[in-house]
Amino acid sequence: MKIIILTIFLIYLSHFGQCIVDPAQKLVISDVLNKLYNIDPNSDPCNSPYTSCQIDIITGFQVVTEVNLFNYSSSEGNIYTINQDFTQLVNLTAISLRDAIEFNSSFYNNMNKLAQLEYLSVAQISIPISGNVTLPTSLKQVIIENISVQLDKGWFESRVEEFIIFSPLVGFNIPNKLSYVNSFLKTLVIPITYYSKLPINIPQYLPNVEEMVLNIYNDLNQSDYKNISISSNGVFKKLTYLHIEFINDITPQTILLDQLLLNSPVLEIFKIQGDGYGINPSIGFNDFTHIKGENNLYLELNYFSSSFFKQCNGYCFKFPKNSKFYSYQSSFPFGNIDLRNLSSFEVYQNYYEQSLPNIDNVSNNLKIRIERSIVVGDIPESYCNIFIFDLSSNQLNGTVPSCILCIGFKEARFVLPNPFSNFNASSEPYCPGFVVDQNYTNLVTTDGEGQMIVTGKNLGWGNYYNIISIIPNEKLSIIIERGIGKNIQKTITFQNNQTYTFNYSYIPPTIKQYSIIEIFDSKFFTLNGTGFNYQGENNVTINGTPITFTNAIGRSFYDDMIGFPFSQFPNLVLESKFTVSIDVAGQVSNQVTFYYFPSINITEENLVLNNTGGSIDITGSFITNNSSLISVSINGTNCLLKSYTNSKFTISYPQLEVGDDYVLTLFVGGYALKLPVTYIQGPTPSPTQTSTPTSTPTLTPTLTPTQSQTPTPTSEPNDDASLSSNLSIPSCLLITLLIIQQLV
Ligand SMILES: *[C@@H]1O[C@H](CO)[C@@H](O)[C@H](O)[C@H]1NC(C)=O
Ligand SMILES: *[C@@H]1O[C@H](CO)[C@@H](O)[C@H](O)[C@H]1NC(C)=O
Ligand SMILES: *[C@@H]1O[C@H](CO)[C@@H](O)[C@H](O)[C@H]1NC(C)=O
Ligand SMILES: *[C@@H]1O[C@H](CO)[C@@H](O)[C@H](O)[C@H]1NC(C)=O
Ligand SMILES: *[C@@H]1O[C@H](CO)[C@@H](O)[C@H](O)[C@H]1NC(C)=O
Ligand SMILES: *[C@@H]1O[C@H](CO)[C@@H](O)[C@H](O)[C@H]1NC(C)=O
Ligand SMILES: *[C@@H]1O[C@H](CO)[C@@H](O)[C@H](O)[C@H]1NC(C)=O
Ligand SMILES: *[C@@H]1O[C@H](CO)[C@@H](O)[C@H](O)[C@H]1NC(C)=O
Ligand SMILES: *[C@@H]1O[C@H](CO)[C@@H](O)[C@H](O)[C@H]1NC(C)=O
Ligand SMILES: *[C@@H]1O[C@H](CO)[C@@H](O)[C@H](O)[C@H]1NC(C)=O
Ligand SMILES: *[C@@H]1O[C@H](CO)[C@@H](O)[C@H](O)[C@H]1NC(C)=O
Ligand SMILES: *[C@@H]1O[C@H](CO)[C@@H](O)[C@H](O)[C@H]1NC(C)=O
Repeated sequence: MKIIILTIFLIYLSHFGQCIVDPAQKLVISDVLNKLYNIDPNSDPCNSPYTSCQIDIITGFQVVTEVNLFNYSSSEGNIYTINQDFTQLVNLTAISLRDAIEFNSSFYNNMNKLAQLEYLSVAQISIPISGNVTLPTSLKQVIIENISVQLDKGWFESRVEEFIIFSPLVGFNIPNKLSYVNSFLKTLVIPITYYSKLPINIPQYLPNVEEMVLNIYNDLNQSDYKNISISSNGVFKKLTYLHIEFINDITPQTILLDQLLLNSPVLEIFKIQGDGYGINPSIGFNDFTHIKGENNLYLELNYFSSSFFKQCNGYCFKFPKNSKFYSYQSSFPFGNIDLRNLSSFEVYQNYYEQSLPNIDNVSNNLKIRIERSIVVGDIPESYCNIFIFDLSSNQLNGTVPSCILCIGFKEARFVLPNPFSNFNASSEPYCPGFVVDQNYTNLVTTDGEGQMIVTGKNLGWGNYYNIISIIPNEKLSIIIERGIGKNIQKTITFQNNQTYTFNYSYIPPTIKQYSIIEIFDSKFFTLNGTGFNYQGENNVTINGTPITFTNAIGRSFYDDMIGFPFSQFPNLVLESKFTVSIDVAGQVSNQVTFYYFPSINITEENLVLNNTGGSIDITGSFITNNSSLISVSINGTNCLLKSYTNSKFTISYPQLEVGDDYVLTLFVGGYALKLPVTYIQGPTPSPTQTSTPTSTPTLTPTLTPTQSQTPTPTSEPNDDASLSSNLSIPSCLLITLLIIQQLV
């Protein structure tokens, strides 16, 4: 039997060199290809650029999985209708019909037979769909380019995640109200015209929409035009991206968007394009301050006419903190935009003549970019104190401030070209106003992270690796490399090429505590403090004897630490006093008196404490019985020692906030030991305790519909990546051979 099957297969392969296409499917697809492209109905339909096929492992037949049909050559209005029964192609996962070609309505009525269909993109629906439509549950993405018929509720009661409708024609309509909660839909692109509205209860019935594009056809000149109104009876709770585009804006109707549609608490991006957007005159602004938590808003206005801004009562928008504003080809007075909660203000081609915005009350982190606009007059001195601004290609005909004169044209290209009276593209740096205040910080740490804080005038933006601007031109920090010693001179060249010689010293050393720690199986006697030498040995004196310790190590904001091999450490009597001091490049520390313990241990590896405070036992080997040598603190807060033996002590610990980065420090006569501490919610039942919400996925908006909604045809159907025919004959043979192998 096996031999017979094998023989049949081999005969077939040698005869045709290809796989057999499922006969029912071949009938349909070959007919379509023949009618459209004149392809021989006896040829292999899977061998065309319009289809992709796969081997069905069970039947051994090839089945059609993707079709990509188009008809560019048809004349205007002449649409090829597919009357073949496409529902026979049960294995289709993707359908794309481009240009003048469409299904007849019975396809849509029977579409749910295509149980594997995931992607449907059609260029036309002009034949009314008679019955109720049920979409296949597998369908994820629907794109309709041109539509002049009504879509019934079924289109919204599916598991489609992305539903995109571009150009509506008269006759198009969708239900006024939805009646089925669809939690699958995430992306909706939908037109609004005088003959098709937005369903009023859409936020309620499509609760998980994250991205929405409304293309509003608001040209009053359309015949039969009736006023459009957009209302909503709810708030989208997950909407992060909202794009509203007004199309045909020659004689636009102004439309007041229901504020509810803007009230998504997670809105991140709101783009409005074209004329037609209105602000309710009785309110005079749009309020976005409801946007919660860390979220902020990116607001983009493109192609806005100045009439819009006349509707605003002062500021047009109330922004949440750290919002960003962008506008292109919109002419408005800067005074209409509140800069105080913005981190970025970008304006291109604003043709409203005015001077630069006043930035006296804004953060110096506001990034300002105003280009190719009619901005005249001076750059105010206040601009010297913000980090980033770009004012290229405006009509600034006044003066630049001293900070710009100081750096000259090469460094100040961000204000050029502009017809300034005191600055042009060949102005060399000129900086008579450069001043360094004498009261700069002149004592720095030895660890290479020390900073001199310098104030003055015209100090530049400090964009060098070791000069960090705190307030541009006014206050900056100079990072001082590792070192030791006093009265060191350092000459700094500022951005404006002015130089200044600073005089500073490294902080004198101090000793805080000692420990005995094990590193790589060797024990070290270590000292912690500040002002130690990182570049070489450290000269320590213990009980009058000089001992050379290692270079210091340490992390920023922590102590400097130096060590000495414990095996060579002087033999001292247990609990005896000893004195320690250090001399770093002639700067001598305090002399401290410690008590000698060769080791002190805590049994616990970490502590878990209640944020309400309390008391706890700590066990270990503490050797001494002298409780006056002991002190315990948690992040600087002292703990009361309630009882003490040399193997266990009890402390009462302070109330601190919940957190896992606390450190308990035990001191015994100068010996310091640290223990990590976690503070947890204590026993008092707290009614405000809430579960932390899981992070919401951030969605990068992928939708950028352009002015023109006409799809651009690709010259080769294979260009469409989603429909590439990825099963060529060799792999077909391979699969066939694999099947044969299984049979033999
Ligand atoms: C094609 O569809 C039929 C009917 O749903 C199914 O049994 C078969 O497994 C499918 N074949 C492939 C390759 O998807
Ligand atoms: C396209 O449509 C026109 C009009 O229906 C038809 O004449 C033509 O054969 C079709 N096929 C192609 C490949 O252009
Ligand atoms: C529409 O297509 C179906 C197959 O899907 C076919 O049976 C029917 O005859 C077509 N209608 C017309 C009017 O050709
Ligand atoms: C569509 O479905 C509704 C209710 O399910 C029914 O009343 C109506 O007759 C159906 N319409 C068609 C054209 O089948
Ligand atoms: C700058 O140009 C504006 C508009 O042309 C004009 O009103 C103003 O007087 C000019 N200012 C200077 C300083 O030339
Ligand atoms: C400062 O001098 C450097 C090196 O000579 C030069 O590259 C830079 O452009 C100068 N900066 C200014 C503001 O003139
Ligand atoms: C120096 O003194 C001036 C004037 O009192 C003050 O504004 C400035 O902050 C001081 N600078 C530093 C680095 O402390
Ligand atoms: C001593 O300083 C080092 C380096 O900063 C640090 O890791 C260590 O925890 C300090 N030891 C104590 C007991 O504070
Ligand atoms: C340590 O002492 C030696 C010898 O006196 C001296 O040369 C060296 O500079 C000192 N090191 C420091 C960091 O003070
Ligand atoms: C924290 O509170 C609980 C409940 O009262 C108590 O059982 C526990 O011992 C406390 N823990 C500490 C470290 O005080
Ligand atoms: C502390 O622990 C170390 C190593 O675990 C041990 O060698 C030492 O004897 C202990 N010290 C005391 C005082 O128990
Ligand atoms: C406690 O101190 C440690 C080490 O000094 C530090 O890293 C941590 O941030 C501090 N925790 C709090 C809550 O201040």
